[in-house]
Amino acid sequence: MDLQDTLKTYRLFSGSYDLVFGPVFHPGRKAAVRIANDRPNQRILEVGVGTGLSLPHFRHDAKITGIDVSAEMLARAHRRVERHSLKNVDSLVEMDAEQLSFADDSFDAVLALYVASVVPDPARFAAEMRRVCIPGGTIVIVNHFTSENPAMRFIEKRLAPLAGRIGFHADFPLDGFLAAGKLDVREIRPSNLFGYWRLLRCINDKPHARTA
Ligand SMILES: C[S@@+](CC[C@H](N)C(=O)[O-])C[C@H]1O[C@@H](n2cnc3c(N)ncnc32)[C@H](O)[C@@H]1O
Repeated sequence: MDLQDTLKTYRLFSGSYDLVFGPVFHPGRKAAVRIANDRPNQRILEVGVGTGLSLPHFRHDAKITGIDVSAEMLARAHRRVERHSLKNVDSLVEMDAEQLSFADDSFDAVLALYVASVVPDPARFAAEMRRVCIPGGTIVIVNHFTSENPAMRFIEKRLAPLAGRIGFHADFPLDGFLAAGKLDVREIRPSNLFGYWRLLRCINDKPHARTA
């Protein structure tokens, strides 16, 4: 699965996205926002913000930036911001999660909801989240990971070769992602329907920049 597959998938599905993936993914979105946005006046980055379904749940004093590669998904996020008069959304920008144009340590918290198994290079995606988040900042990821249930695992393995067409890696092992992403995970909790998705609460353990 490459970026072109992603762009094609979300161009096709942006119109039906909220209906199909709105309510079913909502518990994970709300829990992630509560964890990432737990203090006043935080600078927050949401990677792969999509149609902006999480945006109405942030604190009013937050300063939110959302990025996504899909112009069609972002157009819907812009409309949501206007509809809800969300003054705390600073900017929504078309950008690749694997090449963020922000300076190091630009955000107090970074979150990515249902994006980790969609990007072509999850290690690079995690490295960029760590880079733009301050040392000690919060990183929250919600995603589906390969199931421990043998029946589900069987289905996921069968779906794996179709990643380009279905728009995500159905077979996405948590261990592999954690090792590649070098994330300091402090909590893993089940999320959404049947706990089939998982929320990872991480602390950005990178060292503080040296001051001259
Ligand atoms: C499953 S949707 C999740 C959207 C939203 N986070 C939500 O909670 O509904 C995945 C989103 O990630 C975006 N995406 C995929 N690859 C990306 C990349 N490399 N950089 C930025 N966004 C990406 C897609 O365009 C899509 O909007």
